[in-house]
Amino acid sequence: MSDRARQAIDECRTIATMTEEPGRITRLFLTPPVRQVHQHLRARMENLGMSVHVDAAGNLRGLWTPTGASGKRLILGSHIDTVPDAGAFDGVLGVVLALELVESAARLHLPLALEVIAFSEEEGVRFGFPFIGSRAVAGRFDPSFLAHKDANGISIRQAIEDFGLDPNNLEAAIADQHAVGFVEIHIEQGPLLEAEDLSLATVTSIVGQTRLDLKFIGHANHAGTTPMHLRRDALAAGAEWISNVEALARRTEGLVATVGKLNVRPNAGNVIPSSVDLSLDVRHVNDSQRKTAVDELLVQAESISTRRGLTLQWTKKMDEPSVPMDERLTAFMASAIEAAGFPGKAMPSGAGHDAMIMAGRMPTAMLFLRSPGGLSHHPDETVREEDVEAALRVGEKFLERLAAEVR
Ligand code: GLV
Ligand code: MN
Ligand code: MN
Repeated sequence: MSDRARQAIDECRTIATMTEEPGRITRLFLTPPVRQVHQHLRARMENLGMSVHVDAAGNLRGLWTPTGASGKRLILGSHIDTVPDAGAFDGVLGVVLALELVESAARLHLPLALEVIAFSEEEGVRFGFPFIGSRAVAGRFDPSFLAHKDANGISIRQAIEDFGLDPNNLEAAIADQHAVGFVEIHIEQGPLLEAEDLSLATVTSIVGQTRLDLKFIGHANHAGTTPMHLRRDALAAGAEWISNVEALARRTEGLVATVGKLNVRPNAGNVIPSSVDLSLDVRHVNDSQRKTAVDELLVQAESISTRRGLTLQWTKKMDEPSVPMDERLTAFMASAIEAAGFPGKAMPSGAGHDAMIMAGRMPTAMLFLRSPGGLSHHPDETVREEDVEAALRVGEKFLERLAAEVR
């Protein structure tokens, strides 16, 4: 089997040891293990002859400029933050394989400059607000975003300053004007490629997402003495609404809706819950169907809240439309897959990616690798060695085609 594929997998597993929680992979935006990841990847980038810096959004960026390059560059990369108790490959694999491709480009004497970006934040876990890194590179980071706070009341501005970076310098993070495109290699995170016994696919589009934070506010009282009809139980309201969320998604073709996070107060077994915070994540390939679903769920939340004598508060944390990938770059990727001897497959992505933000700035394409067991956002997430080797071969063919075009 392929040494470089095995090494790339080992590299992802090494980076997985850089975590906030021993025994689990958890690495949120600009937390201490991110510094370790930067040191580790910086050393690899410098070994490859890249010039390296960390921009004001905490993105680690390496630039490889071969002699005779035209001045144009391709950007490759993915994110290095994770969900709590994550797998080792979501995001990180795309950075590790991008660096393997820099090594290939040098070996193949490709005259195309390559910038590799390890995006600081994509998952939206720390601030409930995703894509901090790619928003900055795509020129879509409004300074007002710096005010978002994490669970400990620390703002994005503060987190950036605590890491030793200058949040007033975010403009300088915007992608170089000579960038001809962005390519992200990522695991599929779903079961489709495995079901069809395929290694790889190109991505046609990335589905739209809405994320909301909601809060039902009721009243705490004694669990033993308060009759049922006198209660204003915030958690009972939240539970009723969560079943509505699931029911709506089950009866709407193509809709997925998730309440993944709850915070109950005061969170004691013998106290009626006074408030509950809930997250909502809604996705559909069709933007108007997604919006209709979100509107309906908010109407249901209001009605549950009123009927139970509670108060409802909500804020929208993210509302991104469905984003098509660039047809020309994606056609290059499809022809690279064919040239490398693999069957062609094109599919939409149900997961969000930095590519959905970068696509607003420059032509963008994605390459998916099969996810064994369709598993992701789980510690058992994995990848097959043969698929990693396949992705590298396809990446090389893609670079050859692109270099010939921009030469
Ligand atoms: C990112 O992993 C997302 O799709 O939530
Ligand atoms: Mn990811
Ligand atoms: Mn993820």
